[in-house]
Parts: sequence; C-alpha cells; structure tokens
Amino acid sequence: MRSSQVKPLLKWVGGKRQLLPELRRFYPTTFNTYIEPFFGSGAVFFDLHGSGALDGRQVVLVDSNPDLIGCYQAVRDNVDAVADALDALADGHQRGGHEHYYLVRDTRFNPERDARRDATGRIAYTPELAAMLVYLNRTGFNGLFRVNARGAFNVPAGRYERPHIADRARLHDVSAALSDPRVTLVLGSFVHAHAIARPGDFLYFDPPYAPLSRTAAFTSYTAPRFGSAEQAELQRVVLALATRGCQVLVSNSTADEIRDLYDQNDTARRAGLRAFRVPARRAINSKAARRGPVDEYVITNLPRHEP
Ligand SMILES: C[S@@+](CC[C@H](N)C(=O)[O-])C[C@H]1O[C@@H](n2cnc3c(N)ncnc32)[C@H](O)[C@@H]1O
Repeated sequence: MRSSQVKPLLKWVGGKRQLLPELRRFYPTTFNTYIEPFFGSGAVFFDLHGSGALDGRQVVLVDSNPDLIGCYQAVRDNVDAVADALDALADGHQRGGHEHYYLVRDTRFNPERDARRDATGRIAYTPELAAMLVYLNRTGFNGLFRVNARGAFNVPAGRYERPHIADRARLHDVSAALSDPRVTLVLGSFVHAHAIARPGDFLYFDPPYAPLSRTAAFTSYTAPRFGSAEQAELQRVVLALATRGCQVLVSNSTADEIRDLYDQNDTARRAGLRAFRVPARRAINSKAARRGPVDEYVITNLPRHEP
C-alpha cells in the first residue's frame, strides 16, 4: 500500500483532520465504491487516498457548494494555470496586504463568479477563479466561506502575519488525486448518495453539525441552513443505506437532536447503527481549554478497530 500524505487544499469549517485518528478506527478493510456526500476540504478522502485504500476503486465526491466543486474541477483540469495565477496573487498580497485582499474579493472574484454562474447555480470556474478562491481562503478570516443574501462572498481579511498562500506541490498532489478517471466530483445534495450507493459501498457523511445551543444556531454561518429537517432527512438516508448493506460512517455533534436520531433510537439500532461519543478538539490553547472537553458523535454500522 502507498503511504503518501496529501494535505487538503482548503481550510474548511468543520474540516476533519483533527478527528482522523478516531475515524480511522472505523475504516473498513474491504469495500466497493467510496462515496463522500459532504466533501468540503475532504480530509477523509485525502487520508484514504494517501494510504492507498482507494487504489483501483470508484470514488464519488459530492458537495452542494458550487464554488467548492468549481474550484476542485479547475485544479483537477488545469493545475499549472491555477498555480501560476496563485503565485501572482501571493505576490500582490505581499505588496498590498489587506488592500489587495479586498480588491481581489470585490472587483475580481465576486463579479467573475456572477458572470459565470448559470441558472442552476453552477459556476464555471476558470483557473483564475480557482486561484482566487484558494488565495481568499488562505488569507481570509478563519478560512471561512460565507456568502451574503445576494450570493456575494463577504468574508473579511484575516489577521495573518505571513500567510502560506502558494504551494505548488500541494496543488499538484490534489490535482493528481482528483484526476484519477475513477474519481467523480458532483455538485449536488447528499441525497445523491441514496440514488447511487450499492451494497458493499463505503460512505462517509460529515454534514454541517447540529448546533449544541440556540445561540450557536443563531450565529451559525451555514447558508442555506442545514436545519433539523435536513438532519432528519439525512438520518433517513443513512438508515436506508445501512439497511441496503452499505458501510456507513457519520460524524455529527452531540446535540440532543442527534442523540435522538441515532443514539436513543430503536429504528437506528434495528438498522445496525451504533453511536460512539469520541473526544473532539484537542485543547491547544487556554481559550479552548476553558471551553472544556467536547465530544462528537461517530455513528456507524462498522466495527471499531483497536487504536
Ligand atoms: C462539515 S463540512 C464537511 C467537512 C469535510 N469533512 C472536511 O474534512 O473538510 C460540510 C459540507 O457539506 C456541504 N453541504 C451542506 N449542505 C449540503 C447538502 N445538503 N448536500 C451536500 N453537501 C452539503 C457544505 O458545503 C460543506 O462543505
């Protein structure tokens, strides 16, 4: 088996790199197609890819964010042009800092996205647009991707001294991983998984987490909102797939609604699912330590291996 780490291209809210040690304990040893319906920055896909576990297998990566899918497609199809454009943006940032960030965001990125968006919401990303998304992601506040009611990306500049913007090697690794003809990128809803998954397939679901409190729900930036109706619909899809003989792995918060959907739920148990509470964020600074230990749910019909 190959073992070459490929780091995700983007910083993404809810990125799962920290949870990988827990998730790896559930990876199945045999499976057919790998399907990841909430792709985001793809921490689990790149982890599986790096270990060689996906070699020779079909892979379907789904996300409902048209910028994300457009960006990955451009990186896959035209990586050198993306890398050149990113170098130029990194130079501009070194000279112009925040001013450059806002200039790119408001006079180039948003107008270009508007011009290239079709009636279905898909955005035909050019290499320049992809480079701008990577640049804004690396230099913007907390790597957030947030749009306003009119669909304009409106994240303010971040406060980084020397942001790490251009990384040709990483762009090439990501492009190579996505260029495998067996890998398909799909712009769409997680429900797509229900339509395509067959017995023996392995699916990892990492939806926007259910908020732990009302305040968290109110300040959530997720747009369009992934609310209780969507969490319930996802539970129905996951149960149906488990019953179909698919190998499912789900992560979510330990909010009461998630406990009720999967942990204290007879239908979920009958479908063969178990819910594990696993430690989430490591306390890396005093602020995080003050928040106390946070658990997350890992919900699955797969056996857990010893660490
Ligand atoms: C928690 S993030 C996934 C993070 C990912 N596992 C990672 O490591 O970066 C959730 C993702 O689901 C996507 N999403 C939100 N609603 C969706 C839906 N209804 N169907 C498919 N994807 C959706 C968001 O665009 C976001 O990228």
